Order: sequence, then structure tokens, then C-alpha cells
Amino acid sequence: MSPIHGYVFDAYGTLFDVHSVVEAGRAITDDPATLSATWRQKQLEYTWLRALMGIYADFWAVTESALRHTIRRLGLTATEAQVRRLMEAYLSLACFPEVKAALERLAGRPRAVLSNGAPSMLAAAVASSGLAPHLEYVISVDRVKTYKPSPLVYALGPQTLGIAAGELLFVSSNAWDVAGAKAFGYRVAWCNRTSAPEEELGVHLDVVVPTLDLLPR
Ligand code: 2OP
Repeated sequence: MSPIHGYVFDAYGTLFDVHSVVEAGRAITDDPATLSATWRQKQLEYTWLRALMGIYADFWAVTESALRHTIRRLGLTATEAQVRRLMEAYLSLACFPEVKAALERLAGRPRAVLSNGAPSMLAAAVASSGLAPHLEYVISVDRVKTYKPSPLVYALGPQTLGIAAGELLFVSSNAWDVAGAKAFGYRVAWCNRTSAPEEELGVHLDVVVPTLDLLPR
């Protein structure tokens, strides 16, 4: 592998554990895991559809629309206060237990977040998780008003770090996100936290790790 001169991380599901969203879901359902999983899938679907249709709305708006749809789809009800509390869970996410040490271990080379998250969402999550000292850049897709896996998004990594994609390692727990980054030209590491089967998207993954502390330096 040619040397890696920088690291670009996905945010939700990779650095941040969206599990705290599940806890907030207990207020409106006795099956918060289904609420969280259905909400997450609908959130991503909306990003892909809006990107393809060219009708961008930021990740906060998309996440709220996905929540309201999911509540109806699951036959639930929620007050405006309960919706707000569920949305606010995205602003105070915890990071996975190994993340801080994993980022510290990679210090010396630039470490960036590249995420669908809106700038304010990412700023809040980076602050609440205590990761700010371990990240040199936090990049939101909002700069290009579209979503992953658009090449316009992945181009923000080399543009911001001043390092060619082939010398950057892109890290995500979302296999479709890793495929998008690989298609763009990054070296990629899939953080397969859930032992999920690999996607059939025609790209070769350079590295697969179960947790971020096992990333190659
Ligand atoms: C992110 O961009 C895809 O949610 C993922 O952070």
C-alpha cells in the first residue's frame, strides 16, 4: 500500500454511536431499536433521493422528516416536545469506546471528519463526545449541497487536506459510504462493527477492521 498521509472519517455510526437515539426513543415506543433502525434507514434514503433529484435540504431537516415519516409508518404518536427530544439526541451523541484512543494513535497526520451531518450537528456532536482535540478538520457535505456517495462530497477531503485521495485512508462503518469513497479514489477501511456481510458494489475494500483501534498506521 502506498503511504497514507491523512485520515478521513465518517461520523454517524463510525465515530459516534447513534445508540443514544435509541434511549430517547423509549419515550414513544416499547421497541426503540426498531424506531432507531427504521429512522436511520429512512434518513439515508432521503439523502440519496434528494441528492439524485437535486433538491438539497440539510441533514437536520432530512433527519427530522425521516423521523416524522417513521413515527407514522410504525403507527406511533409523538408530541412536538417528544420529536424535539429525539432530534436533540443527535446533538449529544457519545463516541464508541475505542475512538478517542484510536484517533490519538493516528496523531501526526491530519484527521478529518467528512459527514452528511449539518455543520451545527457535527460541531455539537464533536463537542459533546470530546473528540475536538483529536480532529484537525470537520467537513460537512453542506459545502456542496448534496450527499454521499456523490463524488462532489468525497472531493472535499483532498481539497481540504491538500492531500491526494490515493494517499488518504477513508474510514466508515457504512459499507455503501466506503464504496463511494473507493470509487472516488481513496484508500478505504470498512469498520464493520456489526459483522455485516460485504456489499456487492463492485469495489475492493483495502482494509476491514471490527473497531477503529485496529486501523493500520
Ligand atoms: C455520515 O455521513 C453517512 O451518516 C453518515 O456521517
